[in-house]
Amino acid sequence: MLRAIAPSNSLAERVTATLPRVAQVFESQLSSELAAVNELCRHVERYRGKMLRPMLVLAGGGVGGAPSCTTSHVVLAAVVEMIHMATLVHDDVLDEAEVRRGGRTLNSLRGNEAAVMLGDYLISNAFHLCASVGDSSLNQALGEVTNRLCQGELLQLSLRGETSLDEATYFDIIDRKTASLTGACCALGARLSGVESSTQQAMESFGRALGVAFQIQDDLLDLLGEERTVGKSVGRDLAKGKLTLPVVLHLRQASTESVARAMAAIRGADIKALGAEVRASGAAGRAAAQAEVQVRRAKEAIAVLPHDEARDLLISLADATINRSS
Ligand code: FPP
Ligand code: MG
Repeated sequence: MLRAIAPSNSLAERVTATLPRVAQVFESQLSSELAAVNELCRHVERYRGKMLRPMLVLAGGGVGGAPSCTTSHVVLAAVVEMIHMATLVHDDVLDEAEVRRGGRTLNSLRGNEAAVMLGDYLISNAFHLCASVGDSSLNQALGEVTNRLCQGELLQLSLRGETSLDEATYFDIIDRKTASLTGACCALGARLSGVESSTQQAMESFGRALGVAFQIQDDLLDLLGEERTVGKSVGRDLAKGKLTLPVVLHLRQASTESVARAMAAIRGADIKALGAEVRASGAAGRAAAQAEVQVRRAKEAIAVLPHDEARDLLISLADATINRSS
């Protein structure tokens, strides 16, 4: 993927060549003497996508020409991927989702008990693996991230079915549940390379804005995408009473008649009707424009960094978060 979005960028080449090492560390950390555990873990390997978060750690490690892709970066990249996988396994339980990455979810195949326990196994292993780097500040920073991430999910859960959800609260939820981890990937990748704290801060802001853009795009795909293209269950936000940005904007700005039709679609969990209203009113376009604003913000955050291959690669990654259909 990186070769396609950043051709002739030698850091992109190095990161691409390093990702299989990240996958190896991931697998060997989870490997157990129990066949039953290994069998469940193999299922998680199938959830692996583009490995955006490991890419952010490895690319972030290269800022200012620092040596990236060291053993510590590889371990950290496996750690963040494991945290991400844990959240996906648990998220599919909460969303009662049946499809992820074009295949059946663990909860749909093996039930919620196995999925909850596997998510716990992943999160436990993530922190165990992280401790092997020998820098307790990484464990502390990632502990703060998982706390924030759970708070985001709990806030979202407390607002289920709340049609008066405002934009600020929506942004607060997605900043916590998604952007906190992408922000940490960028900042901690850079921290491992020993860059100064203002650079780590710039990287954190970059990753946070990228994460917000990513989640807006994810929410647009959940509302307007097709399962076969997106590769995962769609319409789960509506089914679970989660209002997302396009719907929030629609309910606030569309005509009275269109809002009434959208409210009926929400009550009846009619995803096609809701999608049509949100598209026709322009709210879907306005949500997409907000994702673009976040990508611009991400790029501005790292404009202060030296112009090098790492910065170019991060910019390409930011663009790719919204130019996607899966
Ligand atoms: C994506 O939601 C969800 C997240 C980014 C966070 C999920 C976090 C939890 C369930 C808490 C678990 C926490 C730990 C520490 C294990 P989505 O439904 O919009 O994404 P999707 O479209 O990929 O399903
Ligand atoms: Mg989900």
